[in-house]
Amino acid sequence: MLDWSEPAAHLPSARKPAPAIVPEDATGLGNIDRNGGRVRVDDKAMINARADVNQLLPLKYRWAWEKYLAGCNNHWMPTEVSMQADIALWKSKDGLTEEERRMIKRNLGFFAASESLVANNIVLAIYRNLTNPECRQYLLRQAFEEAVHTHTFQYIVESLGLDEGELFNMYREVPSITDKAAWALAYTKHLDDPSFKTGTKETDQAFLRDLIAFYVVFEGMWFYTGFAQILSLGRRNKMVGIAEQYQYILRDESIHLNFGIDVINQIKAENAHLWSKAFQDEVRGMLRDAAQLEAAYGRDTMPTGLLGLNPGLTEQYMEFIANRRCAQLGLTPVFKDRENPFPWMSEAMDLKKEKNFFETRVIEYQNGGALSWE
Ligand SMILES: [Fe+2]
Ligand SMILES: [Fe+2]
Repeated sequence: MLDWSEPAAHLPSARKPAPAIVPEDATGLGNIDRNGGRVRVDDKAMINARADVNQLLPLKYRWAWEKYLAGCNNHWMPTEVSMQADIALWKSKDGLTEEERRMIKRNLGFFAASESLVANNIVLAIYRNLTNPECRQYLLRQAFEEAVHTHTFQYIVESLGLDEGELFNMYREVPSITDKAAWALAYTKHLDDPSFKTGTKETDQAFLRDLIAFYVVFEGMWFYTGFAQILSLGRRNKMVGIAEQYQYILRDESIHLNFGIDVINQIKAENAHLWSKAFQDEVRGMLRDAAQLEAAYGRDTMPTGLLGLNPGLTEQYMEFIANRRCAQLGLTPVFKDRENPFPWMSEAMDLKKEKNFFETRVIEYQNGGALSWE
């Protein structure tokens, strides 16, 4: 029988250099290098890492670990939120206008499929190319949160008795929604190819484009019009259950966005040659296109204006946000200086200000001591 109390003589010492990992091993599923050295912080990197991706410690990027902890601290489930008031209002004859109903359905339809697109991109495209264990730890948490968000739309559809086929097919059947999904998916396509590997300037930039399309545009721009629409209803005491769920989603998404920005900036710092002038112009073009696609969505979902929102203000809001994202990425702004037309959104985003928010929660999560294995 093997004695595990003493390290075996053949185990490498910590002083040996870490092995250069062949590209196949970037997944962490390749052959184990029995003679390799222990992981050193300096060998860890965001992409094309030399260090073993199966070892979380020692940490190099504390910001990624902090976001993992923050995500865990924000745990919630959609079923904790009562839908009684929403059901009564939805079923009432005159509680909501036809325009409001159309906006709500299209908003839900946009999010219902988008959460799955984002989740699939994390798991099938980003995870295998991001060669850092603490970032992967966060991605696993984020993937679960996207599942919780998808669950939210299932729960809303079920509670309100909505047509599930209509809602979940909107990303295919409503052009202003399809255009956005198709725009983002075009950036994932390269990464979906099983032979795709980072390691060249061309493929590393393709990976950055996908990160920007999903973290900065999808989650960091497009979701925000959707949040403004529903939170604007909630401010008027309409569909308050959905509005509360959207506040939880928004809290999660703001961490997703900030994680994505940190990932992109860290890759830039470690691979300065990728962030060329031409590439920066291309990224600014992506953000400009994305703002225009969102303006079309605003016109489609709120053609006449409602709840203090209208297509013009939505466009202004997207331009304001696009400029903020440029600043976060170290880019010159895409649009001329814009005021935030929805300043109340920043209050809605800061849940700490909602004094009674958590008092509405009734479910206690099981802790270790309460678990029963019988
Ligand atoms: Fe999400
Ligand atoms: Fe997200």
